[in-house]
Amino acid sequence: MADNGRQCLRANLFLSFLLASFLGRYLPGCLAQLACVGEEGDDDAGGNRTAVYIVHVRKPERMIHAGPEELAAWHRSFLPSLDSGEPRLVFSYSKSMSGFAARLTPEEVEAMAGKEGFLSALPDEKLYPQTTYTPDFLRLRPDVWRAANRGEGVIIGVIDSGINPEHVSFAGSKGVRRWPPRKWRGYCEFYRHRTCGRKLLGARNYDAGAKAEQPLPYDIEGHGTHVAATAAGGEIRGANVYGYANGTASGAAPGAHLAVYKAATVAEVLAAINQAIEDGVDVLCIPLASQEADLPIFLDVVAIGTLAAVRKGILVVAAAGNYGPLAGTLRNGAPWIMTVGASTTDRALRASLRLSNGVELPGEALHRNDSSQLLDELPLTYPTAKRGQLPAEACSHLRAAKVTGKVVLCHTGANMTTAEKAKIVMAAGGVAMVVMNSEKRGQTIAEVPDLDIPTIVLDYNTSLRLREYVAKSPRLKATVIPAGTTFGNRPAPTVASFSSRGPSAANGGILKPDILAPGVNILAASHAAQSGFSIASGTSVAAAHIAGIAAILNKTNPSWNPSMIRSAIMTTSRLGDMTGVGPITDEKGTAASLFATGAGHVDPWGAADPGLAYSVEFGDYVRYLCGLGYSDVQVSVTAGFPVQCAAVGKLDAEQLNYPSIAVKLNSSATAPKAVGRTLTSVRCSIGTYKASVELPAGVAAKVSPRRLLFLRKGQRRRFAVTFSIANSTLVEAGDVIEGRLRWSSDVNVVTSPLLVTIA
Ligand SMILES: *[C@@H]1O[C@H](CO)[C@@H](O)[C@H](O)[C@H]1NC(C)=O
Ligand SMILES: *[C@@H]1O[C@H](CO)[C@@H](O)[C@H](O)[C@H]1NC(C)=O
Ligand SMILES: *[C@@H]1O[C@H](CO)[C@@H](O)[C@H](O)[C@H]1NC(C)=O
Ligand SMILES: *[C@@H]1O[C@H](CO)[C@@H](O)[C@H](O)[C@H]1NC(C)=O
Ligand SMILES: *[C@@H]1O[C@H](CO)[C@@H](O)[C@H](O)[C@H]1NC(C)=O
Ligand SMILES: *[C@@H]1O[C@H](CO)[C@@H](O)[C@H](O)[C@H]1NC(C)=O
Ligand SMILES: *[C@@H]1O[C@H](CO)[C@@H](O)[C@H](O)[C@H]1NC(C)=O
Ligand SMILES: *[C@@H]1O[C@H](CO)[C@@H](O)[C@H](O)[C@H]1NC(C)=O
Repeated sequence: MADNGRQCLRANLFLSFLLASFLGRYLPGCLAQLACVGEEGDDDAGGNRTAVYIVHVRKPERMIHAGPEELAAWHRSFLPSLDSGEPRLVFSYSKSMSGFAARLTPEEVEAMAGKEGFLSALPDEKLYPQTTYTPDFLRLRPDVWRAANRGEGVIIGVIDSGINPEHVSFAGSKGVRRWPPRKWRGYCEFYRHRTCGRKLLGARNYDAGAKAEQPLPYDIEGHGTHVAATAAGGEIRGANVYGYANGTASGAAPGAHLAVYKAATVAEVLAAINQAIEDGVDVLCIPLASQEADLPIFLDVVAIGTLAAVRKGILVVAAAGNYGPLAGTLRNGAPWIMTVGASTTDRALRASLRLSNGVELPGEALHRNDSSQLLDELPLTYPTAKRGQLPAEACSHLRAAKVTGKVVLCHTGANMTTAEKAKIVMAAGGVAMVVMNSEKRGQTIAEVPDLDIPTIVLDYNTSLRLREYVAKSPRLKATVIPAGTTFGNRPAPTVASFSSRGPSAANGGILKPDILAPGVNILAASHAAQSGFSIASGTSVAAAHIAGIAAILNKTNPSWNPSMIRSAIMTTSRLGDMTGVGPITDEKGTAASLFATGAGHVDPWGAADPGLAYSVEFGDYVRYLCGLGYSDVQVSVTAGFPVQCAAVGKLDAEQLNYPSIAVKLNSSATAPKAVGRTLTSVRCSIGTYKASVELPAGVAAKVSPRRLLFLRKGQRRRFAVTFSIANSTLVEAGDVIEGRLRWSSDVNVVTSPLLVTIA
């Protein structure tokens, strides 16, 4: 609810500015709204509060070819001449959008709205790294993830919390044999350190909040380092964990170059995108998300900046968000972004909880290989306070009398991390902790921290069993038995409970997320030490995997545009469990919906040879924005240049040449609905493809033509899918029906998810 409130407020703000600028009138109520939005302002001498605003402006003719300095001078002309002492212009954007970020009071924004060329102004906001847990553990496990090709010569940009440049995964020229391609024009701010090299080409700091303490783009929190290493960390041989699993740790594209941009707010991310475009990156990974779901695209400044990047041929990969498992929690859902959800892998950090009644319950734990973590059998305690008080169950408050010398049962939740709870347990004298997943987390164990006391995490069903045993025999004792890393665990992959779910209300019905990638308990470089590693979970980690795989595809298929890389990844994805039986499941253990999986789970081998691709041209995105019903001004703000929808035409979201197909059907109307798509051959050989549709009985889809013949690479063929209600007794309004469309040749199968929403 709070989210919606803020979003409405933003929308109001936007509209009032538009009105103000067009009618040149002052709107009552606007000031009050601004005052409460510009909350992070500083009091200046006059007692007026300034905050950072992102201001969209329409470039006049004479500015179209202006250089960055001329542009900045023009941007300054919008700012008040009266200087409050602090610099007003924060960023002047030349590439990522048409506009600038500036420190302003609400009154000043109001005054600016009357100036010629002003389009809109939005308050800056913080973005959140979509990595959930990053406890360090200074050990190494070989990553299950190894991609086919090293991605040499491709530049991956990462916008996050900076980087640990000294880490062995990046330092020097780590595994990269060639110097960067000539298109690289970036800069490394670690100038005094010989840390940038052929691997880490560039590093810039845009994070104003962090600059006060550390001007260089060092990573203090750990997300950025982990994400960069997951995407393109160099190979490290002979990696092992206390003698366990010995092998090679590596990013998804170990040969790719990295360009790192440290940024934390929307204005900073926009500056980072601006720089990344100038620097010449190929793939841009944005593992950050807004706290607000379903921001309309014209208010979503990150979406606006990424559209500019896509226009320059950059593939943008972003986190779907860690706000699952509820529906409608998706972030970064604009159709030019590759939106990535998180899945589990078949690897587990196994341990079991052995009870004195002879039962052994499976869980996961990170065990230190020393005596401090070896445990005798000790009494269990389940410190449920008064009925219905979750905080006590979650171990946020504990009384020493109840827990001293015992194994303490805690729940996930209550807005605290397991590490925070461990501190409380230890302070109260507890000697070990059992963390029981809430129903919401289900079977996903995504937080296995390295703690000073033995800790085991149980999934929800196992937790229920444990609670039954404890209820039956209150004197039960228990011990934690470590079992090390195990592979081949089933089911896998599953959708992580935290992975955000569609639908996205803002994008006109396009199915999101696009794809799943590993994002649970992934090991990669740590920010804290030169050769340390950390384990993390999140859709950010999943996005990093896709960024690396995209780099490899860019290397092997240099003629593909960003949407073709996305198409290759989506149309070749894996749809089922690794065992080959059954679908991908979610945290509940039931078949995951398309709103959780998107097209399915990434299969890099398949993506390398997709046969056909759905390609989207930049102009299609502009017409799509018009098709969303946006005004010319809203479309212009989003596109970054003046657009008249009447001139360019409108494209319905259903008709965008996307690799997934989502349509709305009216249950009471009999008229069928046809959507068109165009396929492009990316194979040199001749291929005949036959269509097949898989849909439940209530809805029918007819493909026409049913066969497509491709004679050469680059050849395009158009087809239509006509959806109709086949049996109205089987469907009703509100139903969401899932299916698949497959184009099969002798060699390739090109699969698209079908989503039919009955209105
Ligand atoms: C503060 O606001 C008042 C009234 O809106 C205005 O007159 C004054 O010039 C402002 N002071 C500064 C330093 O911006
Ligand atoms: C790990 O494997 C490498 C190569 O296979 C070997 O040289 C090294 O001794 C191994 N390390 C450990 C700790 O087993
Ligand atoms: C870890 O612990 C196991 C079992 O106690 C022992 O066999 C192994 O040598 C230890 N490994 C290291 C690296 O200390
Ligand atoms: C959760 O904790 C964070 C930080 O401690 C706080 O900002 C937020 O308001 C809390 N949320 C809830 C629902 O309590
Ligand atoms: C991929 O590589 C080619 C040639 O190296 C380049 O022109 C293109 O823009 C790259 N990027 C993407 C995202 O396809
Ligand atoms: C948990 O138990 C319930 C009831 O026995 C079962 O239906 C469900 O599939 C189980 N969930 C998982 C993830 O195994
Ligand atoms: C569905 O079609 C009927 C009959 O054409 C129409 O009256 C109704 O408004 C439509 N409903 C929606 C949700 O479009
Ligand atoms: C529609 O479905 C119902 C229920 O399965 C079935 O009884 C009926 O025969 C079907 N009608 C047609 C036209 O297929």
